[in-house]
Amino acid sequence: MAKVTVPVIRARKGVEKIAMVTAYDFPGAKLASEAGIDIILVGDSAANVVHGFDTTLSISLEMMAFHVAAVARAKPHSLVVGDMPWMSFHISPEDTVRNAATLVRAGAEAVKIEGGSERIPHIERLIAAEIPVMGHLGLTPQSVHAEGGYRVQGRRLDTARRIIRDAQALEEAGIFALVLEGVPEALASVVTDRISTPTIGIGAGRSADGQVLVFHDLLGMGFGRYPKFVRQYANLRDIATDALRRFRDDVKTGNFPGKKETYRVDPGLEEALQLEETPSTANVFSL
Ligand code: KIV
Repeated sequence: MAKVTVPVIRARKGVEKIAMVTAYDFPGAKLASEAGIDIILVGDSAANVVHGFDTTLSISLEMMAFHVAAVARAKPHSLVVGDMPWMSFHISPEDTVRNAATLVRAGAEAVKIEGGSERIPHIERLIAAEIPVMGHLGLTPQSVHAEGGYRVQGRRLDTARRIIRDAQALEEAGIFALVLEGVPEALASVVTDRISTPTIGIGAGRSADGQVLVFHDLLGMGFGRYPKFVRQYANLRDIATDALRRFRDDVKTGNFPGKKETYRVDPGLEEALQLEETPSTANVFSL
């Protein structure tokens, strides 16, 4: 499979839908790559689905770099995008570039930033530093406290207009793709029509240029309530629990390990070992 790059994603608009999934480690990235996924987002959702935090605000840049590095070691054919965690792009454009460079050095080929026009100076500096940027509008989980929860965005004319204006401003700043999360389909459709940058929806209906889901949601490995927009393509939680239960039962009953899972020595050596006298504890201590 050919490597997916930023220009490849830009050229997909109106030609072929983009499939993006989150992944946080080596096996996740291998699976996504082997399945032909276009973009792996090393999302800050790792805070929730991997580390068990309540919000994404708890994950640090160092933790994100750790996940990006594990994904990059899989050398996926998919484009690797590192999510900039909360407070890594909120202070100054200089700080933002330094923090993004940490993710790029860990193996990210682009970064994602939540927010609208207020992020333009930071995005421009990243692009000037040759770091491709993916935007993220609509329901932005890092705004959970400011918004008072996770709510669908752009349901009113004024908020819908703001999202359209923000999308145009981000495009002008040079983003290569835009995540639209938790917005009505009609709004995602207008944004997708008005910008020439590919849009990637999550809870944004069918009109976006691509779709993204969180790895653990898609595979049924979550432990909370799944959002309405999730389609579960497998139930790995049940499969894994069943496998672990069978392992436990086999251990308890002595059914594991069997002959096939056991190393052997030549029968002669085995016999010699059996016959050899084991030194008593007293002897061992007196040695
Ligand atoms: O962190 C994440 O998983 C995301 C996606 C939901 C787009 O930002």
